[in-house]
Amino acid sequence: MYQYIINGRKKLSGQIDISGDKNTALKIIPSTILSSEKSIISNIPDITDIKIMLEIMEDLGVIITLLDSQKYEFDCSNIHKTVIDPILAKKLRASTVLIGPMLARFGEVTLPHPGGCIIGQRPIDIHLDAFVKLGAKIEYHEDSYTIKASQLSGAKISPHTVSVTGTENIIMAAALSQGTTTIEYAACEPSVIALADFLNSRGAKISGAGSPRIIIEGVDKIIGGQTTTIPDRIEAGTFFILGAVGGGDITINNCDPNHLEVFLSFMDQIGIKYTRDQHQLHVYHSPDIKAKNMVTNPYPGFPTDLQAPYTILMTQTKGLSMIHETIFEGRLNYVEWLNKMGANIVSCDPHRAIVFGPTPLSGKKIVSPDIRAGIALVIAALIAEGQSQIDNIDLVDRGYANLDERLQSLGASVVRHQIN
Ligand code: EPU
Repeated sequence: MYQYIINGRKKLSGQIDISGDKNTALKIIPSTILSSEKSIISNIPDITDIKIMLEIMEDLGVIITLLDSQKYEFDCSNIHKTVIDPILAKKLRASTVLIGPMLARFGEVTLPHPGGCIIGQRPIDIHLDAFVKLGAKIEYHEDSYTIKASQLSGAKISPHTVSVTGTENIIMAAALSQGTTTIEYAACEPSVIALADFLNSRGAKISGAGSPRIIIEGVDKIIGGQTTTIPDRIEAGTFFILGAVGGGDITINNCDPNHLEVFLSFMDQIGIKYTRDQHQLHVYHSPDIKAKNMVTNPYPGFPTDLQAPYTILMTQTKGLSMIHETIFEGRLNYVEWLNKMGANIVSCDPHRAIVFGPTPLSGKKIVSPDIRAGIALVIAALIAEGQSQIDNIDLVDRGYANLDERLQSLGASVVRHQIN
């Protein structure tokens, strides 16, 4: 277990490099299972969620070789079992996306109900219903599922809501099926496009990725390939917010501002000063931010993964703002900690909170509830007066590589402690 001790109010400025996108790497890595040929993936972020995914793959028999910094080769020619390690799978929500490639290549997979951040109920009915439509049968055990299909066949699939991992799982299963699959109401996230591009480069026939209708013509064989993980837009947005409230100027390198268009429109509207380039954002300290209501939405809308950092901005803003989290019902779980630090936020219900700003924040002993709430509390501690102790930093480590060192390079006073 790790904790951070943060002494706040240091002026933060300098350059920060954005890592490969967690939620893309977590899909393109399992997609290598679709082929017995080797694949190479670069720019894989050095975070706990990826380490768990690599452990799960190795347990299945995948030979993973580190070729260079953050560049790995995956050899899936010797997969010897179809049961996903339940202890590892329980640690990672994205373990669900192993179902599609395992089912498509081996006709069978068993895995427990996946774990991950506790930010709501997080059912997997969309995934399971889709596999049934593609011809699979599901055996329900006490806390696990065995999904079998001698042959997957194309189908029309219309999920009842937009699901990112659901869309990605269907794409991977349908890529090696017989016939054509259409997903109506598909997720449009950059991770979906990156997965489809990687699979198409390996012989798949997927069109429409990035739009709500994706068409997958099944093929007999997927070959090996090579790709680079796209930049993490959530990390870029998080450091952007830090730049706006952190007292100095921050340059965010190796990012793709095109993946943050709606977020940046929002930042324009609330008065944050920044410039953008093809792969760079430069954010200036912005003392006169306007309060503005915000509603999270599936991509390209305002991302739920940037909702908690946005709330920190609103605590520093004159006026009242409503935060409306529409995707997950457990994602305002950090409000009590922010109030303890001096914020004035009223929780209306599991989906909505009202922030009354501005409120100075002061350092306190707090606990990170999940990855994105955790990083928001880190930002709060960085701008607070005095010292904060943030426990459960292990959750933040799931999504942000070497965070303490990167923040120190901006001038922050952050010290990591190992406890028990
Ligand atoms: N949903 C269902 N049934 C399903 C699947 C989803 O009802 O079978 C509901 C969920 O409960 C939620 C909504 O659909 O209300 C959207 O969930 P989605 O399936 O899109 O979420 P996810 O795929 O589990 C991914 C990211 C999350 C990100 C969300 C939304 C990965 C590994 N995770 O989750 O990232 O918040 O999309 O953009 O891609 C994070 O990085 O911290 C994180 C939680």
